[in-house]
Amino acid sequence: MKHWIAALAAVAGLALHGTSQAQNYPDHAITWIVPFAPGGPTDAMARNIALRVAQELKQSIVIENVAGAGGTIGSGRAARAAPDGYTFLVGHIGYMAAGPSLYKHLSYDPVKDFKAVFRFPDTPLVLLVGEKSPYKTVSDLIADAKARPGAINFGNAGVGSTSHLVAALFASQAGIQITPIAYKGAGPALNDLMGGQVNAMFDQTNTALPQTRGGKVRALGLTSNTTMAQFPGVPTVAEKAIPGFQVSTWYGLYAPKGTPDAVVSTMYDAYRRALQDQAFTSQMTGQGIQLLTDAEYAPAAFQAFTAQEVQRWAGVIKQAGITLE
Ligand code: MLT
Repeated sequence: MKHWIAALAAVAGLALHGTSQAQNYPDHAITWIVPFAPGGPTDAMARNIALRVAQELKQSIVIENVAGAGGTIGSGRAARAAPDGYTFLVGHIGYMAAGPSLYKHLSYDPVKDFKAVFRFPDTPLVLLVGEKSPYKTVSDLIADAKARPGAINFGNAGVGSTSHLVAALFASQAGIQITPIAYKGAGPALNDLMGGQVNAMFDQTNTALPQTRGGKVRALGLTSNTTMAQFPGVPTVAEKAIPGFQVSTWYGLYAPKGTPDAVVSTMYDAYRRALQDQAFTSQMTGQGIQLLTDAEYAPAAFQAFTAQEVQRWAGVIKQAGITLE
């Protein structure tokens, strides 16, 4: 009998401890893994949102950059992290949707190994060339690529990154051959574009904007379905070169599977409060970032969206013949 009482007391103690843990969560710093080098759009977006969500949580959120292999190295690290609410992954369309179709031996399953916490706003991309480039329009670049197959190189953030996928889709639909040059993130790729080491790249609007304003790079076309006041005079790729060409990077926060639902709710509620702050959201829209609806940000919707995107990109990659290089 005594053993039963001791066992019940132990379970009750654990439950109470668990409850007090949940009530005190978060009681120390949280890590968000960004699987690209610092300075790229994913890193910039993550830092911006983490800073504001941390204010709501009254707890610090530390960004840990774990770069390599188009974001799949950091994602594998996050999938194996303890599901205790103190490690999350900043995921996106590349390694959480296209990854399974590009990497034969992915060390994680984007749907089975993670729990979606909330979706970030979307970021369209912009086709960029260096300030000294001879190309003034998307058509100039396409014409030269047709005349010199493979001669034009495009920087990207690694196989399966958005910059890689969008450039491959662009080449496939424009009927041209380009040479992809992989970096550990769009930040280093953009540096080499400005330095003249690469001829072109697709970058997200939030990090491309300051460089276009500074005259270091020239924007030839947007991958959004409409033009943007932030990029005056820049047409869409769809309007000027490839009808219907439209891609945005979607991002979001994921927890390792097994993370308690109470943790997901705490993090999501903090994010929803942050999104009520007009100064916060207008700072993002000012960078060409596109806000979504409340329904789209929610955990369950984001979980279902991720699964749909894995299926969708399998078809896109097959149809476009996109491969690892
Ligand atoms: C991408 O191309 O997927 C991202 O721009 C990579 C990054 O944010 O560095």
